[in-house]
Amino acid sequence: MSIEKSEFRPKIVAFCCNWCSYAGADLAGSSRLSYPADVKIIRVPCSCRVNPMFILRAFQKGADGVILCGCHPGDCHYSTGNYYARRRMKLLFSMLDFIGVESGRTRVEWVSAAEGVKFSQTMNAFVEEIRSLGKNVRLEDLRCRNS
Ligand code: FES
Repeated sequence: MSIEKSEFRPKIVAFCCNWCSYAGADLAGSSRLSYPADVKIIRVPCSCRVNPMFILRAFQKGADGVILCGCHPGDCHYSTGNYYARRRMKLLFSMLDFIGVESGRTRVEWVSAAEGVKFSQTMNAFVEEIRSLGKNVRLEDLRCRNS
């Protein structure tokens, strides 16, 4: 691995639903489980609240990877929100793959409020995967770049 890649700290945006995944992240924190500080969590009421444009915008603004976390299928606080999110993201991710954004840069995970360990492991694994892919340059909007 080149020095440049090993020092690379990817910017990760994690959309977490309020009822399960955000609580899972909270549990990970209170259990002192570590995950990289480069993961920026955005709390949303439900995974289905995430408009595909939010993900495109995150990439435009310089994110190297975007992950959507929600309640397990059947456990959504709003009954079926995560089913809609899953279908929507499948379409979006295949479109992103088609235009050259590697499929490893996007992920959907189900994390319950009791799964602090899973949250921590998922984030660590996702960051490692993005680190191996390198910087995202496909959708980055040069006007949003700092410096
Ligand atoms: Fe968690 Fe809908 S409330 S996915």
